[in-house]
Amino acid sequence: MRFDIITIFPHLLDSYLAESLLKRAQNNNLLSINTHDIREYTNDPHKKVDSTPYGGGPGMVYQVEPVVNTLEAIPRSPKNLVILTSPRGKPFTQKMSQQLAKYDQLIFVCPRYEGIDERIKKYIDKEVSIGPYVLNGGEIAAMVMIEAISRHIPGVLGKASSLEEESFSKEGILEYPQYTRPEVFRKSRVPKVLLSGNHKNIREWRDKKSRKTTPSGQK
Ligand code: ADE
Repeated sequence: MRFDIITIFPHLLDSYLAESLLKRAQNNNLLSINTHDIREYTNDPHKKVDSTPYGGGPGMVYQVEPVVNTLEAIPRSPKNLVILTSPRGKPFTQKMSQQLAKYDQLIFVCPRYEGIDERIKKYIDKEVSIGPYVLNGGEIAAMVMIEAISRHIPGVLGKASSLEEESFSKEGILEYPQYTRPEVFRKSRVPKVLLSGNHKNIREWRDKKSRKTTPSGQK
């Protein structure tokens, strides 16, 4: 799967991409993440990509031309989708992450907080928000989405985890609480059932707990 990120800060995400599980996935050719600098696609001699809003008002607005130029320079896979990151977009959910994982290519257009000329909408397939708050720009939102979507790509997680992930995604239920050594930490004990060796009881306990811990909005 191919991800493209259109931004004025192509290096903002480098250290994260160099350290995370996504790096291994890229090395194993399971996915590729490509950043594209809007400033490279402007005709302005000073590499400016924004301007003051028509009608007046504070702040600057991204110009549509350099963003569309960047979009048009990106090679397209047959099943691609262009996503605009925006606090006004459709809320991103686990279910949406599964649906988006079915594409060959996702292209994220990430304006900074000032916003972008509305005429960009003609080039956008979907507008998505990662939550009801305003970030300084869409880059972090794109990374959040890319990470959640990548987890559905076979091989990105270890083999055992992906199987677990499958049942989790099907039912939309979050994981049960986990414990490891020591059995007692400052008087706080591991639940007895987990030490019992009774796999049926352990399964039931975990099932009950995960239903309890999953926020109702996600079930
Ligand atoms: N850009 C600014 N705020 C955002 C949000 N909440 N989700 C996606 N993109 C954004």
